[in-house]
Parts: sequence; structure tokens; C-alpha cells
Amino acid sequence: MCGIVGFSGTRQAAPVLIDGLRRLEYRGYDSAGVAVADGEEIHIAKVKGYVKNLSDLTHDGADIRGLVGVGHTRWATHGAPNDINAHPHLSSDGRFAVVHNGIIENYASLRQELTKKGIRFVSDTDTEVVAHLLEVYYDGDPKKAVMRAAARLEGSYSLGIVCLDGSGRLFALREQSPLILGLGVGENYFASDVAALVPHTKNVIYLDDGEFAELTADTVTVYDVRGKTIDKPVSRVNWDVEAAEKGGYEHFMLKEIMEQPACFKATVEPRIKNDRIEFENFDLTDEELKSIDRIIITACGSAGYAGQVGRYVIEELCRIPVSVELASELRYRNPIINERTLLIVISQSGETADTIAAMRECKARGARTLAIVNVVGSTIAKLADHVIYTWAGPEIAVATTKGYTTQVAVLDLLAVYLADRLGLMTPERYSALITAIHDMPGKLQRAIDLNRGIKKLAKRLCNHNDIYFIGRNLDYAVCMEGALKLKEISYIFAEAYAAGELKHGTIALIDQGSLVVALACHEPLFDKTMSNIEEVKARGAQVLAVALEDDRQILKKADDFILVPRTEPILNPIAQVIPLQLFAYYVAKERGCDIDKPKNLAKSVTVE
Ligand code: F6R
Repeated sequence: MCGIVGFSGTRQAAPVLIDGLRRLEYRGYDSAGVAVADGEEIHIAKVKGYVKNLSDLTHDGADIRGLVGVGHTRWATHGAPNDINAHPHLSSDGRFAVVHNGIIENYASLRQELTKKGIRFVSDTDTEVVAHLLEVYYDGDPKKAVMRAAARLEGSYSLGIVCLDGSGRLFALREQSPLILGLGVGENYFASDVAALVPHTKNVIYLDDGEFAELTADTVTVYDVRGKTIDKPVSRVNWDVEAAEKGGYEHFMLKEIMEQPACFKATVEPRIKNDRIEFENFDLTDEELKSIDRIIITACGSAGYAGQVGRYVIEELCRIPVSVELASELRYRNPIINERTLLIVISQSGETADTIAAMRECKARGARTLAIVNVVGSTIAKLADHVIYTWAGPEIAVATTKGYTTQVAVLDLLAVYLADRLGLMTPERYSALITAIHDMPGKLQRAIDLNRGIKKLAKRLCNHNDIYFIGRNLDYAVCMEGALKLKEISYIFAEAYAAGELKHGTIALIDQGSLVVALACHEPLFDKTMSNIEEVKARGAQVLAVALEDDRQILKKADDFILVPRTEPILNPIAQVIPLQLFAYYVAKERGCDIDKPKNLAKSVTVE
């Protein structure tokens, strides 16, 4: 959702803040703004649109003087994306400026109450109430005002506040929305994501819900909800600033697609020691393991589609029933869950509001929770009984690529591990799978190399208005992700269908020239998928097949094809999805779309 930064130091704040916002722009790009205090006044610059507009407006921040400030890049919830609703929001007395991520759920009643006191609101946002509450509660002690205002707020939020008090002070508050403090030398920072902190420092403090911090250039003090100072551990971020930059690629998405062989390796190899799978934080006893009679995977979007792959693989290898539940549905469904349920929660960001809520609900009903998460210290990682991190590094493009494939990699690894622990796998099969896993980075590179020509294919096919993805079993699971990638970045209507289900309705839409992307890599059902290809061809469809590179049969049937290397079947979805990501990327590029920042989307969905 929105991105927040804060800075206090001895150099000019605005350029630092704007650079931080650029690194957080994937969180929202409806508007951008900064508020900087110079000891006498808080100066605000804010504008609709990208951070670039803000940097053009302020000459990269040079026009705004002051050593302490906050910044914001917005994904609009309350109020249209325009200059007025852009953050920061200022109190009427000009003493406080506020930036906010999340939703103040009781803002309407607070607004009414403040209006009755004679306060005039200028924006339509929920955030503005915070600025005015601060002004109402201020009696010379800004910390007290912050605590009193926070006590009135309901909802999920992280807040950054600059206060014109002495040389200027910063406050950072966290309630169910990420906020991280960065500790520098003679300067300190906060941000919604470490991506904005790593250019300055790798020493960070992860705030927990209900905590808030006061920052000056030389001090960082963290308080609990009652205002008592608390000692927080300082963590080290384990990746470099280059990881969050484009590194010569035109878009983050392309860079992140190309990183996948390395990310697979980084995620999987540390978990294989002497050819045995070991997880650092998932160590159930045999008894605990045998007591699991059901697995529920919950997530949103692509993370849910990774879960769909996981379902096929875990059921196949472990013979435990698995269901994949959309977090936004599960949380409100009064689900049947008990201590024998293992809940696998998948999230790249670890901050997705619906996923967190579903997790809390299931935990309360006794489920044991295992999180597969990319962001260290994120809410989901903290809430889970066990965590397996995907070591994909920072993912900046809004559309996930390496986040998804590393999630699938962990699920594959987990399935093999569980099947072995449950005594369901022969040593020969186990060792064949370990060898296949070790071979995967090379295979993924081959999946990229085999499809260097996909750009031309994308150019030819980019004008279709709707595209149908069909497949069976694991192929069907990959179809879901392939279709989502295409629709979210190219704005072409694309949907995944179980190939056998097509004739129960959707085939009515297939016409002369309809484009059907048929995934035919799952060999046990190859002939069935071929029959479905025949069916759509008989109705005039144009077929783009995704096939194993040594498959000769399909080449005769399909109009176009994407080839992928042969791998162990359970690993094949990872190889298959890479050319589909590339296809979506080049189609979107042909159509002139803003690939890293698709319209209406933001990366980390921290509101319901
Ligand atoms: C699609 C995409 C989203 C996310 C979803 C969950 O490309 O990125 O569908 O997968 O919003 O996000 P996380 O994994 O952060 O919980």
C-alpha cells in the first residue's frame, strides 16, 4: 500500500526523503509528498502522480530546506488521488505533519467530533484526523500528544509524524502495518520497507504493533503503548542496495525474472545438507507430524496460486488432504479447524492484511501455523509458529515473479521433506528428487534461454482482447499464475480454466481466432490435454502450446509454442511459469503499459 519514510540528520532532509520514496514507489503511486521542518515552519510539497512529479516540482528536493521530515507515496483508499488528498497532512496550527499507511476505521466519527470543535478539514482522507487530533492534544509535550491521539485511533496503520518542536522531532507508530527504524551515524530514519533504508544503513529495528518511536539525529527511543521505554533488538539486513536497483534492466520485473535461477538456488541450497532436507525452523516430532490430518494453505493472488501447485504436490507425495483457501474468504467463513490442522500461510511481503487476518482466525482455532515468507521480520513471519523464508531478495516490481517461484520451490521441498518423514518415499526416489532439485537452477536458466525469441511471439499476439489458459493438474495450477501475470500488467482479459472443464460452458466463448494458451507438460494427462486442444482448434482457436522441449507430438498441433526443459514433474511448474512471465512482460511492453507499476495496483496490500 502506501510507502512512508522519515529522516532526521544534519544534512538536507528532502533529497533523502525523495530518494527513499523512489525506492518505495512500488507500494503506491497515486501521489507523493514530503514535509520538512526547518525549526520555524513545516514546509510541504505534494503532488498527484509519480515520485518523479514530486522530484520535478522540488528540483529533487533542493527547493525545500530543513533537516528533519517525512515523506509518502500513496495508494489511495479514502479520497481521490489528487494534490489535496496527497500526504503529508498538516494540523491547522502548522505544528504537526502526518503521513499514514493503512486505514483509520473510526475516522468519520473523529472527523465529526473535530469539526464540532471548529476544525476545518481540507482533504477527504482519513489521515487528516490524526494531524488535528495531535493539535488538539498538544500541551507542550509532543510525545504525550502522540500517545493521546494514537489512543483514539481504530484500524490498522503506520504513521510518520514530524513535529515543529525545538529543532524538529520525528515520531513513528506501528499498528498492524509495517514500520522499520534505520540507525545511522548522526542521522536516523524510518520506512515502511528496508528497501528505503539500505542505502544508508543495514542496522534496523522492527517495530511491533502498539509500539512507537521518537527519533532525532542522534537518538532513537522506542516506547510501548503506555509510553514506557523498551529495549529492542537491532537486526542486520542481509542484502545490498544493488539488490533493490534495476542493474541495467529496463524494468524491475525483467530483472527479477532473470534472477530466478539464482533465487531458487539461494532458497533451496541452504536447506539441503549432505543431500538431506533440513529446515531451520520447522522441526516437528514424529508424533506431531503424524497428528496432522489436514493441511490448509491460505494466501492471496499469486501466493495463492503457488499454494495451488503446493496442493497437487503435497497431496501426491504425502497423502494428506490439502485445500487452498483465499485468505479474504477464509477469514469470514467460520472455518472448521483444529489442532490437527497445519495451516500453511504464503506471502511474499508478509504484510497482506487478509492473509494476516485469516492466519489469526485459524490460529485462534488451534491450527499450527507455518509461514512461507520473503520479508524478514514481517508480521506474518512474527505471528507464525514456524517460518521458512524464501530467499528471493527484495521484489520491487508490483507483479510477483521470483516471489512466486521461490514459494513453489519451498512447497516442493516441504512436500519431499514431509513425505520422507512420513515414511512414504523410498531412499532411491528421495535421492533422485534431491539430484533433480540441485539441477534446477540450470534448468531454469535453460527455460529463459529457450525463450529468447518470445518477444517476437508477444509482438504477434499482443492485440488479442481475451486469452484463455487451459491445462490439467499441475499445468492448470500454472495456468492460474500465467493468466494473472498477463492480465495485471498488459490489461488483457486472461483467465485460467481446467482443460476438462472448458466444455461445460466456457467453450461457448471460443471462436475463430480466439487465443488459447494450452499447457501440456503434465505427462500423465498429456493425451487428455491434447483432446482439449483438438476441441478448441475445431472451433477456430489459435493455440499457443507450452510444452516440454523434447515433445514432438504437440508441435504438429499447435500454431505456436513455448518450450520448457524437462524436469522432475513436481518441479516443472517453476520452469513453465518463467516463459509465461516473459510472455506477459513482452506483451505488456508491446502495448506500452507501465510494467513495474500496473494501474490500480500496489505491491503490498495492507488494507482489507
Ligand atoms: C500478483 C501479485 C499479487 C500478490 C498478492 C499477495 O503478481 O503480486 O497477487 O501475490 O497480493 O501478496 P503477498 O505475497 O505479499 O501476500
